[in-house]
Parts: sequence; C-alpha cells; structure tokens
Amino acid sequence: MSKQQPHEFISPVWRDGIFRGRVVFVTGGAGDICSAQTRALVYLGADAFIIGRNVEKTEAAAIDIAKVRKGARVMGIGNVDVRNFETLQKAADRCVAELGSIDFVIAGAAGNFISTIAGLSPKAFKSVMDIDTIGTFNTIKATIDHLSKSAAAHISPNAENSPPGGRFIAVSATFHYTGVPLQSHASAAKAGVDSLVSSVALEYGPRGVMANVIAPGPIEGTEGMDRLARAGFGEIDTKDGKGQQIPPSVRGGSPTIPSGRWGTVRDIADATVYLFSAAADNVNGHVLVVDGGAWRRQGGFLCVGQNPAMQYPNFLLSGAGSGQKKPASKI
Ligand code: HXC
Repeated sequence: MSKQQPHEFISPVWRDGIFRGRVVFVTGGAGDICSAQTRALVYLGADAFIIGRNVEKTEAAAIDIAKVRKGARVMGIGNVDVRNFETLQKAADRCVAELGSIDFVIAGAAGNFISTIAGLSPKAFKSVMDIDTIGTFNTIKATIDHLSKSAAAHISPNAENSPPGGRFIAVSATFHYTGVPLQSHASAAKAGVDSLVSSVALEYGPRGVMANVIAPGPIEGTEGMDRLARAGFGEIDTKDGKGQQIPPSVRGGSPTIPSGRWGTVRDIADATVYLFSAAADNVNGHVLVVDGGAWRRQGGFLCVGQNPAMQYPNFLLSGAGSGQKKPASKI
C-alpha cells in the first residue's frame, strides 16, 4: 500500500468507483498538490498519466500513487517540460495510446520563488510566465481535442455508472486578486492562467468540455509554502499589530486566516473530485478558491509585515527584500 492513508488525501464522502474507466493527464503530477489530486482520482477509480521534468521524482510518484487502488494504472513520465510543446504533445498522445483516452486534465505545473521586481531579471520573470501561463496554454493545445472526444463520448454523466468526461482544471493562485509584494511574476502568470481557462470554457463548453480553475491558498506541507515560510511570509503571526497575543483559532490553527487554519492537500483534492464528478456537470468557467477566505484579508496570508523584520513597506525601501538567494532546485 501507499505510505499515505486515504484520509490524508480525500474526505470520506465520495462514492467508490465514480471515476472508473476514466483517465487523467496531469502536468506537475509529482508535486505536493497535484500528486494528492491525482491520488484521490485514482483512489476513486481513474487511471493516471503524470508528467514532470524530473525523471526519478515523477516515476516514483506514479509508483506510489498506483498503490492506492488495486489494479490502478498510473504512468509517470519525466523529462517533459510544459514549456516544450512538442514533448508535451508526444506525452499526451502516448497517454491515449497506452491508457486509452484523456478524459480529465489537470494543468498543475508551476514555478515560483520570492523576489521583488528589483531582484527579478527579465529572464526570471519570463521563466515563470513560460512555465505557468505558456505551459497551461501548451497543455490545453496538447489535450483539448482528446478532451472534446471524451466529452462527446460521455455525454450522459448522470446515467448510472457513467462517469463524465472532458473536464479541465488549471491550478492557479489568489495572488493576483489583490496583488502581493514579491510575487509580481507569479501574480501575472496566474492572472494569465485564469484568463486562458475562461476562454476554454467559452470556446469548448459548446463541445461539452467543462474548464475550471482551482485557486489554493496557503497549503501546509508544500514546497511552495516551505519557501514562503523560510522568507518570513508563511509564518502566521500570533501577535497583533501592537504585540498583543491573538487567541488561537477555535480550529486550533492559524488565528489570522478566516477559516482558522491553513489549507491541506486534501482540501484541493476534494475540490478536484467535485469538479470532475457528475455533481459539477454544469460548472464551467468557474474559479473555485480553496483558501479558507485568506485572500480576503491579506493580513492572514502573504501580508508582508507579519514578520516584524519585514514591515511593509520598510523592507522594500531599505532593499532588504531584494536579492533573495536562489534555492537549490528540487527538480
Ligand atoms: C530571483 C531567480 C530566483 C530567485 C531563479 N531565478 N530563482 N531570480 N530570485 N529566487 C532566476 C534565475 O537567476 C534565472 O535568471 C531565471 O530565474 C531562470 O532560472 P533557472 O533556474 O535557470 O531556470 P529554470 O530551471 O527554468 O527554473 C525555473 C524556476 C525554478 C521557476 C526559476 O524556481 C523552478 O524550476 N521551479 C519549479 C518548482 C517550483 O517553483 N515549485 C513551486 C511551485 S509552488 P537569470 O537572469 O539570473 O539567468 C507555487 C505556489 C506558491 O507556485 C509558492 C510561493 C513560493
């Protein structure tokens, strides 16, 4: 069995087998969030084809995910960069050749780091735009005909034992709703992702493809939030502006996020199951924010100023926020 227990990646509310006979194609599928999304779908009956840049990491993730259900087919293909359309298209075609179809797509590959505009080279900005925005476009181009075919083949999703097909999800973020310091690159890139999905919803909805966005907030235990925390962003301060202790949330987590806690990968996996299930048969062009309400008050997330050493805007004016060291790549 996989090292992960089902309750870690899925709520106990979904019916077994609701994705039986369906195949999900996932970019960035070995990542913390996307692997949980994939795991949940496989647990509920789907087969999966995950791609990533790192060969070992992607293959190992596929082997582990396959353990959640006896008979699951999960392929993990490395050396596929969403910035390279040709390799992505080959991967999509291989998924169809080996697993039979592409019924669902998760565009999850993303790149991010923390930097002021002053600390960003044009190449650095472009790298994130290329991975997130162009990568999502490339993923759409490489899979949309397969999704259209799947939507046409599974046109009665409410029939007994007939899971839907032709569903697309992009994993985005909430940075661009308000703007967030040190995230100009990711904010711009994710705004582009949201916009692209709107266009897919409009242009392919008439063919039966439902395209939506999931926007996670701060998710505990992920590489992205580890980096934010290292830079002093993710540590939710337990003191108010006057240094007074804020009482802990009734849910035992962050007192400054409206829901009282950080997100979990399971929150995102559950949202994914919903959007791919028959229950979301008429949900198209939607942005499903799963962040406990955090974006509505930047005081709860990514608000520079929570770390006393990084009061906004002093750290910008002093130059302390520039020149973050590039961390060793995990790719
Ligand atoms: C400033 C940086 C930087 C940093 C990289 N660069 N890190 N600039 N601050 N911390 C610059 C480099 O100096 C270079 O520009 C340019 O970016 C490209 O870097 P390379 O490493 O050569 O490119 P590449 O291999 O394509 O790397 C892409 C990447 C990298 C995005 C820069 O971080 C990456 O591969 N990340 C993938 C994993 C990842 O980020 N996952 C997190 C997703 S989570 P110059 O001009 O110097 O050559 C997420 C949620 C939010 O998105 C989390 C918030 C942190």
